[in-house]
Amino acid sequence: MNILHLLKAFLITGVMLMATAVSAEVPLPEIQTGEGNCVEPTDIMRKDHMNFIYHQRDETMYQGIRTSKYSLKQCVSCHAIKDDQGEYVRANDPKYFCTSCHEYVAVKIDCFECHADTPRSTDKHELRVNE
Ligand code: HEC
Ligand code: HEC
Ligand code: HEC
Repeated sequence: MNILHLLKAFLITGVMLMATAVSAEVPLPEIQTGEGNCVEPTDIMRKDHMNFIYHQRDETMYQGIRTSKYSLKQCVSCHAIKDDQGEYVRANDPKYFCTSCHEYVAVKIDCFECHADTPRSTDKHELRVNE
């Protein structure tokens, strides 16, 4: 390898390191999804999921209509993921399905203060609805 080749190699490595540094600063959300199909096509879910669940909540709370199509429990059970230890990932974990995306867009939701964040909540001391 002559000196030019060596310089070129250094340059390329440098650029690659910079690219890694940049992507480490601005992490793209790592979205993990459940199995089967979502309740609506993915592109619609991406922008309208909050409307579906708010609508579902209002129907349940104010009109007593109880369908499961957009129920939060269904979202949670389908989108639940497990960590390397086989434990369900909780809502405060950046890897949690909803959180992975919300952290990226700086959205905060309080839903899981009351609603179970896993198919079977592991914390029995907290108030969890819909278990
Ligand atoms: C039967 C399982 C199932 C249920 C129930 C379900 N989902 Fe999904 N959801 C999926 C799958 C699978 C995908 C990925 C589809 C794909 O990649 O094309 C998805 C995709 C999504 C996406 C888009 C993710 C992305 O990659 O951009 C959002 C947002 C979402 N779901 C939210 C919800 C919400 C909110 C609920 C409850 C109202 C819900 N899902 C219920 C299985 C489900
Ligand atoms: C202070 C506690 C609390 C908070 C916070 C809360 N909920 Fe609820 N939610 C409830 C209770 C209680 C019910 C009624 C449970 C039932 O009748 O099944 C309910 C019912 C619902 C329902 C209808 C039942 C179902 O699962 O389909 C939806 C949907 C819902 N909530 C969504 C949300 C969403 C989305 C958020 C966050 C933006 C949220 N909730 C925050 C307490 C709460
Ligand atoms: C593909 C990315 C993505 C995923 C996955 C995702 N969300 Fe969202 N969510 C968003 C975005 C973006 C917004 C803000 C939309 C806006 O401000 O118009 C949002 C907003 C919301 C809101 C309204 C918050 C508010 O301040 O009014 C609720 C409720 C919500 N999401 C619930 C959920 C739940 C529950 C899940 C998991 C089952 C989930 N989202 C998964 C991207 C996502």
